[in-house]
Amino acid sequence: MEQYAIKGGNPLVGEVEISGAKNAALPILAAAIMTDDPVLIENMPDVRDTNVLLQALESIGAVVDRIDRHTVRINASMIHDHVVDNDYIKKIRASYYLVGALLGKYRKAEVALPGGCHIGARPIDQHIKGWEALGATVEIAHGMIVTEAKELKGRRIYLDVVSVGATINIILAAVLADGQTIIENAAKEPHVVDLANFLNCMGANIKGAGTDVIRIKGVTKLHSTEYAIIPDQIEAGTFMFAAAVTKGDVTVKNVIPKHLESISTKLLEIGCEIEESDDAVRVVAAKPLTHTHVKTLPYPGFPTDMQPQMTVTLGLSKGTSIVTESIFENRFRYVGELVRMGASIKVEGNTAIIDGVSRYTGASISVPDLRAGAALVIAALAAEGISVLDEIQYIERGYEDFELKLQSLGAQIERIESERELQKFKLKIG
Ligand code: EPZ
Repeated sequence: MEQYAIKGGNPLVGEVEISGAKNAALPILAAAIMTDDPVLIENMPDVRDTNVLLQALESIGAVVDRIDRHTVRINASMIHDHVVDNDYIKKIRASYYLVGALLGKYRKAEVALPGGCHIGARPIDQHIKGWEALGATVEIAHGMIVTEAKELKGRRIYLDVVSVGATINIILAAVLADGQTIIENAAKEPHVVDLANFLNCMGANIKGAGTDVIRIKGVTKLHSTEYAIIPDQIEAGTFMFAAAVTKGDVTVKNVIPKHLESISTKLLEIGCEIEESDDAVRVVAAKPLTHTHVKTLPYPGFPTDMQPQMTVTLGLSKGTSIVTESIFENRFRYVGELVRMGASIKVEGNTAIIDGVSRYTGASISVPDLRAGAALVIAALAAEGISVLDEIQYIERGYEDFELKLQSLGAQIERIESERELQKFKLKIG
């Protein structure tokens, strides 16, 4: 079993190139099968979730041509199946985008129910509400989402909760429907906008993405395009907090600073300096960090996917901070591990009350999910001594070359597979 061995205490310093956004790439890959023409996608992150989805596309007959590590051409003209079911696809959340895409294009889909990180109940009632409103029947049977439509007709759909997944799935089902679909109370995340831009490049007619009302006029056909995925806001934010918590100086490059505003604002509040340019943000943590309060909210609010990284940082910031998680009900599972590293945090319901301590100490810890895993890595980088992290496969779902990028900033982190490799690591770092 692979683990990370980490020796903390080094400030992270330097520049790091941010990859394409996982949560934009996933719906874009699904949408790419909605035309019979070839589609070229650039800036694709090479992470486990996108690779699983690409395999799923191949399993139903799409031709996936990897031009290079970050560029893929997809030709879906030979798709012969509308059933997607394998052990891998069950583990990722984005499998359900294939429901929207296959239903939209072929009017039927059978896809294994989605997995993903265990951060809450994660119902899909709003997705189903949307598909049914457009005219599909939807049944959950034998672990599959089974859906079919004689015809899909545009409708006005109000989302009862702001949901990224439901907004995207309704867009996918509506782009080739008859007439106009209006999604009210839509999610405004950058990846929703990126998907809409991609579909518009393929000939769709989507207006209002990035606001809470999205209007989709159905078209009869989509066509070939070439498209580059936006940079990953959460990967960038993770490195920004890594700079803060290790008292470092890191520039994240190839980013859209506007997408990072809520993150930059919170870092400024706790005492970091932020410098923005057109496509880079520099975070300098020269002064002692101080407390603040944060509540996670849909975009443009503070992202739930940055909540663990924020909590780890506040754990070493002077004073009492309060972090409220308002999106997922089970997203503080990592706090127990952080407490074992010396943090003073009490979780009550969806709130964490954090009393800043002056140091963390290295420990053997287990990663509970993707973002919490990244957050525990940065905690270990800030800690005194050595930490060993288990279950790092969660981190590989969404971070490309995580340890290599951290090493390039001066982090002492290595992937190990045995006690012997751990001893070697300890000898090497002295
Ligand atoms: C997406 O999940 C992301 N995943 C998550 O990132 C991210 O945390 C989340 O959006 C919020 O930004 C992907 O893009 C693959 P939601 P999603 O539907 O779409 C409730 C990561 O680490 N809800 O916006 O599943 C839901 O329970 C992952 O990269 C319903 O009640 O999130 C939650 O409380 C983790 N009914 C809230 O809405 C529904 O039908 C927001 O969920 C759908 C959602």
